[in-house]
Amino acid sequence: MKPVHNRFRTLWWLSLLACILVMVTIGCNGTGQGGSGAPTYEGEVKQILADRCLSCHQDGEIAPFSLSSYDEVRDTSSAIAHAIETGSMPPWPPDDTCNSYERNKSLSPEERQAVLGWVEAGTPEGQPSQEDQEDSDEEEAITYDLDLTMAEPYTPQLEPDDYRCFVMDWNAETEKYVTGFRVLPGRRDVVHHVITFVAGPSLADDFLAMDEADPGPGYTCFGSPVSAGASQAASYGWRWLGSWAPGGSHRTFPEGTGIRVQPGSVLVMQVHYNTLSSEPVQDQTTFQVRLSDEVERAATVMPITNYRWISGNETMAIEAGDPDAQASHDLDLSADVLDYLGTEAGLSNGDPFLVHSVGLHMHLLGTKATAWLERADTSEQCLLDIPEWDFDWQGAYDLQTPVEVNPGDRFHMQCHWDNSEDNQPVIDGERAAPQDVAWGEGTRDEMCLAILYITAP
Ligand code: HEC
Repeated sequence: MKPVHNRFRTLWWLSLLACILVMVTIGCNGTGQGGSGAPTYEGEVKQILADRCLSCHQDGEIAPFSLSSYDEVRDTSSAIAHAIETGSMPPWPPDDTCNSYERNKSLSPEERQAVLGWVEAGTPEGQPSQEDQEDSDEEEAITYDLDLTMAEPYTPQLEPDDYRCFVMDWNAETEKYVTGFRVLPGRRDVVHHVITFVAGPSLADDFLAMDEADPGPGYTCFGSPVSAGASQAASYGWRWLGSWAPGGSHRTFPEGTGIRVQPGSVLVMQVHYNTLSSEPVQDQTTFQVRLSDEVERAATVMPITNYRWISGNETMAIEAGDPDAQASHDLDLSADVLDYLGTEAGLSNGDPFLVHSVGLHMHLLGTKATAWLERADTSEQCLLDIPEWDFDWQGAYDLQTPVEVNPGDRFHMQCHWDNSEDNQPVIDGERAAPQDVAWGEGTRDEMCLAILYITAP
């Protein structure tokens, strides 16, 4: 019996030793599929990538390669480890201590460890569990009901910033709600942002006339989607539908909500072309929408800034050389702007309302931005905090719990910029000299804009 006992003992020691070795590099929890404790693709990694990476890393989305099969992930595993270690991926600019957001892309420490451990262990595939197979059957791909594409391609003519509006017929014959959208920029090297607006049936002719009056596809439309000399009704009657800036992909509006579009409307797609660092090339951008016949709550998109910065009555001053220029603005949203900005959601001044999502927008000099509420009782609630602004990763963030805003609550926003010598854009291979900057439409101008998606409570 003794020899057997000894053999057992040796085996036991060997396996303990193996476990220690594994533990030193990747952790030894004994739950993995490979027997050694290493995470496997099927065991852990696949689900982590599905939650944190696939919204961008799949065919037709913004990332340059897909991570949706074992082979694809194995073949790029060292780049994945590098990107995770350096923090370049996944991009998730919001500070999660400010609020909680849907579809958070950041990796928890455990997830990070699992992916890195899996790469370290030689990318074992493992076996799919029964549960996973059931889950994956439930996932449905997003489909779009309507594709709206610029009728003809357009080559930017104004340099370096060309704002061009393209009018597109809305062909639906009944009232519809847009519940999600995706922008497919024709040329990402020149498309700097896209905002799509809705102009109701009574304004359709005004917008078609603006298009007609300007030779070539579309018309020039800096700032708002109207050309100079537009009627009063057209100048104030349009509403935001959806926007895209670098880093954005598709957008699904919060469940049960959508933006109403009436038959006979036109969609106006404003494309900001920027040719600061690339040649003007032909672009033909597409806006895809998901539609529903009805929703529980009609929504509206509320762009907020200090409108005196835009009119020039006040200067959003960012002095040349200032490493931390700041601008802030606050207002009582419920009392001040619902009569004008809330009507599509059935709201008027003095009404309470719900904020479902929040975005912030600046340009290249931005370093950080924050939006918060100061309640009537002076307590504060953070809505969105971007501690390290990255122009390439902008988005709208859906709050896990929509926030109710009441009359008397003040909305605050604050933006910071670095206009020092070291933080200037590179133009034609050379770093530009700092210049005084203010609110403006050009890429070298700046903005400080918050974008809320709201409904009635
Ligand atoms: C919001 C969209 C988005 C998400 C989410 C995302 N990526 Fe990316 N990823 C990109 C884009 C776009 C690029 C192209 C390079 C760039 O623009 O930085 C990229 C590039 C990469 C690269 C190439 C090397 C590099 O660092 O640029 C790797 C590797 C990568 N991603 C891995 C991942 C992994 C792993 C995840 C999830 C944990 C992830 N990405 C999540 C959009 C995304």
